[in-house]
Amino acid sequence: MFSPFKAINPSLERKVLTLSYHFTIQSFPHSRDEIRRIFSIVIMPRGRVIEAESGSFDDLEEAAKGKHVKGCFFERGAHRCEKEIEKWLNAREEREFRYGEVAFVQVKIGTYVNDCDSDCKDPSCKNIDSERVASQDDIMRACSLLVKRLPESFREEIRKDAAALAFLSKRLCPHTPWLSMRLEIIQYNACWRWHQDTYVGRSIVTYVGPGTCTVDDKHVIWDAFERRSVDNIPNEKCVLNEKVKQMKTNAVLLMKGNAWPKISGKGLVHKSPEEGRIPPKRLILKVDLSNSPVRDISSDDDENQD
Ligand SMILES: [Fe+2]
Repeated sequence: MFSPFKAINPSLERKVLTLSYHFTIQSFPHSRDEIRRIFSIVIMPRGRVIEAESGSFDDLEEAAKGKHVKGCFFERGAHRCEKEIEKWLNAREEREFRYGEVAFVQVKIGTYVNDCDSDCKDPSCKNIDSERVASQDDIMRACSLLVKRLPESFREEIRKDAAALAFLSKRLCPHTPWLSMRLEIIQYNACWRWHQDTYVGRSIVTYVGPGTCTVDDKHVIWDAFERRSVDNIPNEKCVLNEKVKQMKTNAVLLMKGNAWPKISGKGLVHKSPEEGRIPPKRLILKVDLSNSPVRDISSDDDENQD
C-alpha cells in the first residue's frame, strides 16, 4: 500500500504509525505524561551540542546564543597546573565535605520579571524584588571567596574561570536572578543516569578526571529515555554509546537546563562520566543559573543537588 509518509521519509512513517497505534489501539484517556511521551517520539527535539570555534570564553558565549544549541564547549588541553591540582585532590576525599562540596557561593545577579499586577498580595514577590542585586565587584568578591582555600599555585586560574563564566552567564540570561558557584570533589555522589537539569543553566569544568557526557537531541532514544526511571532502562538503551559526546579534562562546557529562556523543549540531556566500582575522583567547578536560590544561607539547607 502506498504510504505518503514512507515516500517522504521512512523514519517519519514509523513515527506516524507509532502515534496511530497509541491513539487508536490503546484505550483512552491518556494521562498527560503518556501524551507527552507519545509526542516526544514523533516531534524530534533538535537541540545540539557544539564546539565553540576558536576556543575562548567569548566564542562560548556566542555559540550559546544559537537557536538550537543546548550545550556548547571548548577544549584547551590539560590544565597548566594539572600536576599541582592532582596532588591537592589526591590528598582529599569526597566524604570529607558535604556532598563533596569544597566551597559554595551564591549571589543575586538579576531581578525577577514580575508579572504580578499592582494588587499582588504575595509577600514573596515584594521580598524578592527588594533584595539588592550584586554589583560587578560583588561577583568578583564571590569568585575570590570560592577559591580562597585552594593552594596559591592554582587558585588564581580557577578564580578567573569562575569569573569568566559568572559574567558570561549573567549576560546570556540577564533576567535570571540567582548565580551559584561550587567547587566539588566528586567520586561516588554523581548523576550517573541520563537526565535534563531543571534549573536555568550550568557551566562546568572538570579540572581532574573525565568530563561530562552529553548528547544531541536527535541521538536520544526518547521513548526509552522517558521511561528510564519507571522501567529501570539502562543508559545504553537511552543513548547509544557511539553517539555520546564526552568532554575532555579541563574543557569548558555550558549546558542549558529546562528553565533556560525560550529553550525549545527541555534542557540538554547529559550525565556524569563512567561509573564502576571505584569511579575516578574529579575536581569540578560549577557555575549555575537558577530562578530561585539554591540554598537558604541562613539555614544552610541545600535544596538543589541535581
Ligand atoms: Fe545534571
